[in-house]
Amino acid sequence: MTSIYFDHAATTPMRAEAISAYADAAGAGPGNPSSLHAFGRSARGRVTAARDTLAQLLGCSPSELVFTGSGTESDNTALFGAARAQRAKGRTGIVTSSVEHHAVLHACDKLKEEGFRITLLPVDETGRVAVSEAEQAIDDTTAVVSIMAGNNETGTLQPYAEIAQIAKNRGAVMHVDAVQAFGYEPIDLQSVPVDLLSVSAHKINGPQGVGLLFVRRGTPFQPLLYGGNQERARRAGTENVAGIAAFAEAARLSAGDLDARRSHAEQIRQAFLQALETELGRDAFVLNGNAVHRLPHIANISFLGLNSETMLMNLDLAGVAASAGSACTSGSLQPSHVLTAMNLPRERVQSAIRFSFGLGNTTAEAEKTAKIVATISARLRNR
Ligand SMILES: Cc1ncc(COP(=O)(O)O)c(C=O)c1O
Repeated sequence: MTSIYFDHAATTPMRAEAISAYADAAGAGPGNPSSLHAFGRSARGRVTAARDTLAQLLGCSPSELVFTGSGTESDNTALFGAARAQRAKGRTGIVTSSVEHHAVLHACDKLKEEGFRITLLPVDETGRVAVSEAEQAIDDTTAVVSIMAGNNETGTLQPYAEIAQIAKNRGAVMHVDAVQAFGYEPIDLQSVPVDLLSVSAHKINGPQGVGLLFVRRGTPFQPLLYGGNQERARRAGTENVAGIAAFAEAARLSAGDLDARRSHAEQIRQAFLQALETELGRDAFVLNGNAVHRLPHIANISFLGLNSETMLMNLDLAGVAASAGSACTSGSLQPSHVLTAMNLPRERVQSAIRFSFGLGNTTAEAEKTAKIVATISARLRNR
């Protein structure tokens, strides 16, 4: 039975070294990083080592990093934390884009109920925000600007560094959701004026349920969770020691071979597109997203005339895992908010499939999947 995993944007398999780091920390015995005794100090040492590694990779101080329970929690903590703190200064505007992950958009819906004004920047037909739109929308009443680094459905990259400069000039806090881009795009917090940045371990072959939030020193911020003083009182709750150790190991390895990861993903993507062209013909599909400013591991493809849910079900039956959009919306038959915001024709939105590649995938798998797609496509068209 075929078993091909082309859904790395949803989650990635943990790499062996991260599993070892996890097992090593989990098997080291009890120890709450907040306890003062030797067991606690040992656990704290692991968290500190992981924080140091991640800080070095991101170009920030270890004290500027807050471990969370997911990318979603990092996004929510960033938005609620900065927006509520900025309100004290009379700033009540939030500027974000229409293609953000729901972790950002649904948090903004909630902030709207709290009285914040939400401005959703439009995108072009490739899913990219124009810097000029941000320039117009951000003013001295803006509390927070939240723009993602790379989109999880199309892979389109945003000009977040330019937008961060505008936010800085106008006194707004800048948040970047880098959950999908981290591990593929270099991020250097020393050179971009970003105040808050979200990352998630399970997108880079680390464990699920571990996130990270960068909070630049001096950023207006209120915690989302109250309790103990963990994470310098910015996120209460006992840290996931083993998960954090495994996250740092996965991040260290993915940063070390960033170029190799990029070219590997690019190679699989190219092989897949080439094979689709051979099997289906160039006119049977359209690639969605930006051709230049894009992540290397995502291919969002509309198979014109076919329905994405039907295609996905058939791919699953044939042993191929892909997705209709973000993991949260797939299966719900809701048209993708990202492709809709790109103003694509209905037919393109309703027939889109996201294939996303990663560690362990081969060009042979890409070629095989293209053949499977062609077989399914012929069957569905002849019905
Ligand atoms: C861009 C983006 N932001 C946030 C998230 C949420 O991350 P997590 O799954 O760790 O909650 C995801 C996950 O798909 C994502 O792709």
